[in-house]
Amino acid sequence: MLGGHQRLGHSQIVSAQQRIWETFQQIYGRRPVVGVRSPGRINLLGEHTDYNGGPVLPAAIDRAIWLAAAPRADGRCRLWACDYGEGCDIESMPNGPVAQPSWANYLLGVLAEMRWPGGVDVAFGGDLPIGAGVSSSAALENATALAANELFSLGYTRLDLLRVAHRAENHFVGVSCGIMDMLAGMMGRKNTFIHLDCQTLTWEYLPFEAPDLAFVLCHSGVERRLVASEYGVRRRECEQGLAILRTLDPGLEALSKATPALLEVAKDRMPKVVFRRCRYVVEEVARVAAAVEALRHSNHSTLGTFLYQTHEGLRTDFEVSCRELDFLVEQATRHPGCLGARLMGAGFGGCTLNLVHQSEALGFIAQLSEAYARAFSRPLPTWVVRPSDGAEVVFSD
Ligand code: GLA
Repeated sequence: MLGGHQRLGHSQIVSAQQRIWETFQQIYGRRPVVGVRSPGRINLLGEHTDYNGGPVLPAAIDRAIWLAAAPRADGRCRLWACDYGEGCDIESMPNGPVAQPSWANYLLGVLAEMRWPGGVDVAFGGDLPIGAGVSSSAALENATALAANELFSLGYTRLDLLRVAHRAENHFVGVSCGIMDMLAGMMGRKNTFIHLDCQTLTWEYLPFEAPDLAFVLCHSGVERRLVASEYGVRRRECEQGLAILRTLDPGLEALSKATPALLEVAKDRMPKVVFRRCRYVVEEVARVAAAVEALRHSNHSTLGTFLYQTHEGLRTDFEVSCRELDFLVEQATRHPGCLGARLMGAGFGGCTLNLVHQSEALGFIAQLSEAYARAFSRPLPTWVVRPSDGAEVVFSD
């Protein structure tokens, strides 16, 4: 992975991509036939709302996985992870996830969902941080789906492909995530946020033309060990809340559609913890609606305030934060150049998202890095990212 906190310049992007194409040739002794770029994502607002049928506001970013592939006649699947310097050779479609290497399952899951369209040699890698909550797994799944579609002329639409990637993560990898990450990575557009309704899978694009602002990611470095178990617990608590709400309103489609008034009436029927989870979701849904208006009017200071509010909800009601993330957000409030900050993604570690005046970004990073090192005796990896185009086929011979 490339380090540092600067935005990648054109030459660095070319070299990241070049590195993958060249590694492919070294490993397999031939040229790749298809090359794809598949980005990670940020999410402005709408956290833990996707699996509640609610709205989200993600964007693809200018950090990506590049994947090179060529077909094989013998049906085998050879995979190489350039950043790990490690590969594997799979003879035929596996029935379930392989034990090692675990990263192979993101690719195998997608190929299995596509009914193993043919043998393939693959090499991939890039500059997208792994395990930082910017959806490197969805990026790899999207990349595989896009490359296989191109390589074997399968004729899937982009919507089909991201659904394949989502099913692969749910059924093969076994993580019951929502669809936001795949959709953002596949459908993103430069300088644009995606206002997605996860219930209907319809969306609109909201331009974000603000060259004076920067999105800074600060990586707590906390391993997201709890995500696997606690994410599932949160999902079940939300489902429990929905079931109770439906005793009052049987037609209620999803938790995200509950009104604050309905929730208040249901309060006494719910365990306290379930009520707090539901309250967070209902408030977050309202915040996304308000944020969409703020985006339309380029009201960026209001957006920043929403980021802080979302963090507060995630910390207190939804309880997916941790000491390090709270510290980073608290430090962000102290910097005059920061409009808003919050933990981003599932939580329990990973990154904070900070909306910062461009001219203050370096000072902001320096101040937080110093404070973080002092408090936790560890460095603070940071990245400045921009809303960018979604996954694309870079070449196809
Ligand atoms: C993870 C999941 C997403 C979403 C977020 C929380 O990133 O992959 O589907 O649920 O957590 O908003």
